[in-house]
Amino acid sequence: MENTQKYIHENKERFVQELFGILKIPSISADPVYKNDVLKCAEKLADNLSEIGVEKVEICQTAGNPIVYGEKIIDSTLPTVLVYGHYDVQPADPLELWTSPPFEPVIKITEIHPEGAIFARGSCDDKGQMFMHVKAVEAMLAHNELPCNVKFMIEGEEEVGSENLAIFVKNNKEKLKADIILVSDTGMLANDTPSVTTGLRGLSYVEVEVTGPNRDLHSGLYGGCVANPINVLAQMIASLHDENGKITIPGFYDKVVELSEEERAEMAKAPFSHEEYCNALDLNDVMGEAGYSTPERGSIRPTLDVNGIWGGYTGEGAKTVIASKAFAKISMRLVPDQDPEEITQLFKTHFEAIAPNSVKVVVKPHHGGEAAVTPIDSIGYKAASLAYEKAFGKKPIPVRSGGSIPIVAMFEKELGLKTILMGFGLNSDAIHSPNEHYGLFNYYKGIETIPYFYHYFTELNA
Ligand code: BES
Ligand code: MN
Ligand code: MN
Repeated sequence: MENTQKYIHENKERFVQELFGILKIPSISADPVYKNDVLKCAEKLADNLSEIGVEKVEICQTAGNPIVYGEKIIDSTLPTVLVYGHYDVQPADPLELWTSPPFEPVIKITEIHPEGAIFARGSCDDKGQMFMHVKAVEAMLAHNELPCNVKFMIEGEEEVGSENLAIFVKNNKEKLKADIILVSDTGMLANDTPSVTTGLRGLSYVEVEVTGPNRDLHSGLYGGCVANPINVLAQMIASLHDENGKITIPGFYDKVVELSEEERAEMAKAPFSHEEYCNALDLNDVMGEAGYSTPERGSIRPTLDVNGIWGGYTGEGAKTVIASKAFAKISMRLVPDQDPEEITQLFKTHFEAIAPNSVKVVVKPHHGGEAAVTPIDSIGYKAASLAYEKAFGKKPIPVRSGGSIPIVAMFEKELGLKTILMGFGLNSDAIHSPNEHYGLFNYYKGIETIPYFYHYFTELNA
């Protein structure tokens, strides 16, 4: 591994420049306008995989955005690591809040990243983190130090639900045969407090439409006489939480796995400062489910949040109108063993039941996915833990994350494989937000840590 680390050190600057090339392509999966950029990004990635010596590189077409595949099999008797990541990104808007254009990467110094951070959409989620794996494998291949087999599967639809990846995985079980899945698409606690993500929340996402009168009405002539769908929607949404911050949908908590007191005590050992948390977000206080700490509320507990709400007049000045319709997009983050389809159904039944007779309600389900947890007594986790210890000089803390990567539970179901989540981003990196960035420290540290994982995983499997 010594030559690998030396190679990484000597090629650091180039690794950043190459990442810049990928970040410059606006591969936004949510907006069909960027279809060509999505394809361009897949091609660039595939070219790079070929250049570093990965074999059988393919751009696999799907009904949506292509999946980039490649492999390097050095010995079929050795273990195989399947690397998953995504090259698609979230839309960049609101554009006016970016301090530099989202697809013109630049390095800026921040308080948390005194050595500099790369500012660009996708720098952390997930181009920067995904590309660390490509560079780590390049470094290992450069001096024949790749200790086992590797397969790459990089998709272009993670941010829109991975629908076509699910089909690809189901149809390519032999091709994707591996011993472990390795992903860097999560975060860690802090640059001096490494952690390994041991869980992800699931997701149920719905859109609701509330219809009152069949047309927009004069709010003077009709106000007070008919249901105002915006008023009604606001009330319905407000009633979805009780005064203790519990979700009021009947049956919502029925399958939630409660953690034991020991597990909660273990979790509480991870450093967390209420004050720093509030300061970073300009908040006077936090809010959430009674009886749980902030880290618990954000990881082991299910939640319900409105992600968007609209209707009526929102233009300049005042227009006196009662809108015909009101809308909202609502996400529910789920924990083991909640079933996303069942939760969506419970939501729909409840939401329709609480609607007053004066409106009509339509609930439209969007994509979803199950929660996932990684046991810390597995070879994969141990290899990750040893790798961080080697690279950071500190044993990482296992932490369950609040985010979702629905495909992880699907990998387990379809391929029978556990996923190791070696994330190097920070919560402050502003993923999905304006000014997304990724620390140079994190980028380099990730590239350094990954080869150690291969080393320990191969050793522990022997
Ligand atoms: N990489 C994130 C998920 C993530 C980020 C997990 C940080 C843990 C820590 C992923 O790209 C993402 O944004 N997932 C979506 C769900 C998806 C179905 C759109 C999410 O969590 O909202
Ligand atoms: Mn991601
Ligand atoms: Mn994302």
